[in-house]
Amino acid sequence: MDPPASLEHARLLPNGEKTMSDHIQIQRHGAVQVIRMNRPEKKNALTRAMYAAMSTAILDSDDDAEIRANVFFGVPGAFSSGNDLQDFMAFATTGHMGSEVFDFLVAIVNAKKPMLAGVDGLAIGVGATLHFHCDLTFATPQSFFKTPFVDLGLVPEAASSLLGPAVMGHQRAFAFLAMGDGLHATEAREAGLVYGLVEAAELEATVLKAATEIASKPPQAMQIARDLLRMPRQDTIDRIKLEARHFAERLQSEEARSAFMAFLSRKK
Ligand code: COA
Repeated sequence: MDPPASLEHARLLPNGEKTMSDHIQIQRHGAVQVIRMNRPEKKNALTRAMYAAMSTAILDSDDDAEIRANVFFGVPGAFSSGNDLQDFMAFATTGHMGSEVFDFLVAIVNAKKPMLAGVDGLAIGVGATLHFHCDLTFATPQSFFKTPFVDLGLVPEAASSLLGPAVMGHQRAFAFLAMGDGLHATEAREAGLVYGLVEAAELEATVLKAATEIASKPPQAMQIARDLLRMPRQDTIDRIKLEARHFAERLQSEEARSAFMAFLSRKK
């Protein structure tokens, strides 16, 4: 397994791009920080190192007055396929999970700067629930959001059990988060998980334009406005802790173990 990334691992690429894990690339566009998941061969499945690198980027932005918005991008066809199932399997067998996922979830809840996302293609698991924390998500028409938690023997995470019903109402949240019904891009927009639909060729420019507009507004007023609009942070963190207790127990259940085995040993 990759070692957790840390600030010490951060380095600047020749083009000025900063990378903190081979699979997470950090770029700056003026006052906008771009956090790009870049593990296309695994559809952007998130490893512990990737969570750690994204947490570091968010924490950096909290303390950097020159960064006024954060943007999450994936790769064409895959925003993220969610947590790496190898990592889940490792936890199921060893009981050691590390704190990277939890630290990332706390970092996005506590994030001081607005967060935006541009989605093309798959947005699975935390790749879908992340958008409950984003202030604006744009998606291409071919995007697909799905949370197969229960089918994997697991439960909703990232406070989606709290934010999901608030955003889309109980029944749609139940279908999405408990039944694992997927949402096509238009449905995700109707449900309130996505703000705007945009063709793939325009996706990144559209998100960066919106982020730049946010970044141009008075930052203190923006921060207060955003805080007023969001669920109280402590309630969200308390829910993440509650979900995490169930999630950790479930990860070691027979239901989960056999679901991971089925995925990892499937024949294509
Ligand atoms: N964890 C680990 N590996 C993953 C992964 C994940 N979450 N998602 C995809 N991959 C890997 C596949 O094993 C495959 O690896 P391989 O080429 O070495 O065999 C590679 O990424 C490409 O995935 P593949 O399944 O061939 O692509 P697809 O387009 O047919 O399907 C998905 C894509 C995302 C629908 C499918 O891979 C999937 O269901 N992944 C699991 C999603 C999931 O349950 N996430 C956890 C949510 S809590």
